[in-house]
Amino acid sequence: MNNQRGLSILIPLGMLGLAFVVGNVFSESDVRYSRTDAVFRHDGWADSASCGECHEQAEEFDQTGHAQTLLPATAPHSVQLLQMLEDSDIGQKQRVTIDAAGEQLLLARTTESGTTRAAVGWCVGSGTHARTWVSILPDSMGATDLLEYRWTWFRDGQDFAVTPGHPDVVPPTGAGCLGLQFDGPRAVRCFSCHATRLGTREDRVDEAHLVAGVRCQRCHGPRGEHVASGGEITNDSWRFEDREESVRRCGQCHRNAEEFTAEELRPNNTVLPRFQPVGLTQSSCYLLSELSCTSCHDPHKPLSAQDSLGDWQCVQCHSPEHNSQTLCAAGHSADCVRCHMPKVRQPDSPLKFTDHWIRIRKEAP
Ligand code: HEC
Ligand code: HEC
Ligand code: HEC
Ligand code: HEC
Ligand code: HEC
Ligand code: HEC
Ligand code: HEC
Repeated sequence: MNNQRGLSILIPLGMLGLAFVVGNVFSESDVRYSRTDAVFRHDGWADSASCGECHEQAEEFDQTGHAQTLLPATAPHSVQLLQMLEDSDIGQKQRVTIDAAGEQLLLARTTESGTTRAAVGWCVGSGTHARTWVSILPDSMGATDLLEYRWTWFRDGQDFAVTPGHPDVVPPTGAGCLGLQFDGPRAVRCFSCHATRLGTREDRVDEAHLVAGVRCQRCHGPRGEHVASGGEITNDSWRFEDREESVRRCGQCHRNAEEFTAEELRPNNTVLPRFQPVGLTQSSCYLLSELSCTSCHDPHKPLSAQDSLGDWQCVQCHSPEHNSQTLCAAGHSADCVRCHMPKVRQPDSPLKFTDHWIRIRKEAP
């Protein structure tokens, strides 16, 4: 951090030139979203903290992955982890240093060609699986680009590795030596799934109005009038009476089956478990009953605080007490998830996800 020679400073950031267009598992570029989604609305918002005054749903909500999925990079948890990057094998090898002393969190990388440095903006991912850092960079056209840093922390192994989808070889200076740059639409998309409110204008993320994390109003819509009126229902809410629509709304971020080709939609495709609605909606359980995401998950509680392991949900429809129901043909009466919804490792990263394509598997677990 003390080498001033050949220093290229990435702040102010208008000068970033090269944009790399490389596929990235964290940046789902082909996702369709609607400009009318709550996240893009400019007005009608209530203070996020107000919901807890009247609703018990807020009690444990701050501990959910949804609430914690986006933090300012200067939040204590994020700073602590980035300081570990400095001491990690990859951080040492690639000469990465962190300076958290001022108001900004600065990351620098030194190569033979000099030192490149940038102010880190946000930490993405709750850490249940992983955390990745990004910065929003204003470009010369008044839009925003996104720099996704090269180093991701994985819970599994408790260590840093190269962010999935990043190239092996990078340029010695400039933004490219710190990570991948994405254009405005992708920056907006990235935040639209990890934030509640974007305050966006066109392809620009407005950091001043950004409400981080997937909070109450991301799912239930801006609730300013609702709060001001003491609880009157004045806007559209989540329509749970339509099960398919409800699952699709979870799929807005977790992804829906139409985003995949018929060929990709095969049970042994190990990419699919990361996109839970895709597998679930192929399962006979879903197709031949009223099963939905909220049959097993309470979106208001952390995963660890709910019994989502499935046995009790499974026996609602596969119970020996109802002789009309289908029972396990292998004769098992417990531990259903282990055999029928195992965790599956992703092809290009150490992450594992629960396979929601509930089915009979040939391979023994
Ligand atoms: C002053 C108390 C109060 C506050 C503050 C409040 N609510 Fe409510 N809310 C109510 C009441 C009362 C109902 C039930 C209304 C009914 O059934 O007619 C309700 C119902 C709801 C419902 C279920 C019905 C629907 O519209 O889907 C949701 C969702 C909801 N509130 C979300 C929120 C959110 C999000 C916030 C924070 C931004 C919030 N509320 C803040 C009192 C409040
Ligand atoms: C606005 C986007 C968005 C919507 C809508 C959404 N999710 Fe999520 N969900 C996320 C993100 C992002 C995460 C990752 C959290 C993290 O960083 O670990 C997540 C994580 C989760 C988790 C893991 C929770 C944990 O505590 O680790 C569950 C379960 C989940 N979502 C279920 C649902 C269900 C069910 C719905 C529909 C009712 C839904 N989600 C709707 C974005 C969304
Ligand atoms: C279409 C919505 C969507 C977009 C766009 C998106 N994410 Fe996510 N992201 C999710 C969901 C949903 C999860 C939770 C996956 C799970 O836990 O099942 C997630 C999880 C993550 C995680 C935790 C690791 C993991 O895979 O669970 C990181 C880190 C992350 N996203 C970073 C990013 C970054 C950086 C961008 C933009 C460059 C981005 N995401 C764009 C929806 C999205
Ligand atoms: C990931 C999306 C998501 C988030 C975030 C979320 N909710 Fe909900 N909420 C739902 C869904 C889906 C339902 C319907 C649940 C069902 O069908 O069992 C619901 C139902 C409700 C209801 C109606 C419950 C009833 O019994 O009628 C209230 C009130 C509510 N949520 C308040 C909140 C508050 C307050 C927060 C923030 C602390 C919040 N929600 C965050 C998805 C969400
Ligand atoms: C039949 C029960 C069941 C249904 C229905 C269900 N899930 Fe799950 N889900 C689980 C189980 C079991 C886990 C693993 C929980 C654990 O590890 O603690 C899980 C885990 C998750 C996770 C955490 C990441 C992972 O893959 O391990 C997310 C996100 C998630 N589910 C989203 C959804 C969404 C979105 C839907 C609706 C499309 C849904 N689930 C429907 C049982 C279910
Ligand atoms: C809401 C009801 C419902 C729930 C909950 C449910 N299922 Fe099913 N499941 C069904 C129906 C309906 C079928 C179609 C066969 C039948 O008629 O019983 C089915 C079929 C299956 C099959 C055979 C799949 C095939 O392709 O041949 C398996 C295995 C299975 N379920 C396991 C589970 C497990 C494990 C759970 C809990 C994680 C579960 N189910 C939860 C309704 C449900
Ligand atoms: C040790 C692994 C294992 C466990 C645990 C297990 N199953 Fe199975 N299950 C299987 C296998 C293997 C088959 C296919 C057997 C066959 O076709 O001969 C099967 C078949 C099924 C079927 C399809 C029945 C049919 O006639 O088509 C259902 C439904 C089912 N299991 C539900 C469950 C439920 C519910 C649980 C938990 C109460 C459970 N299983 C626990 C391995 C398991």
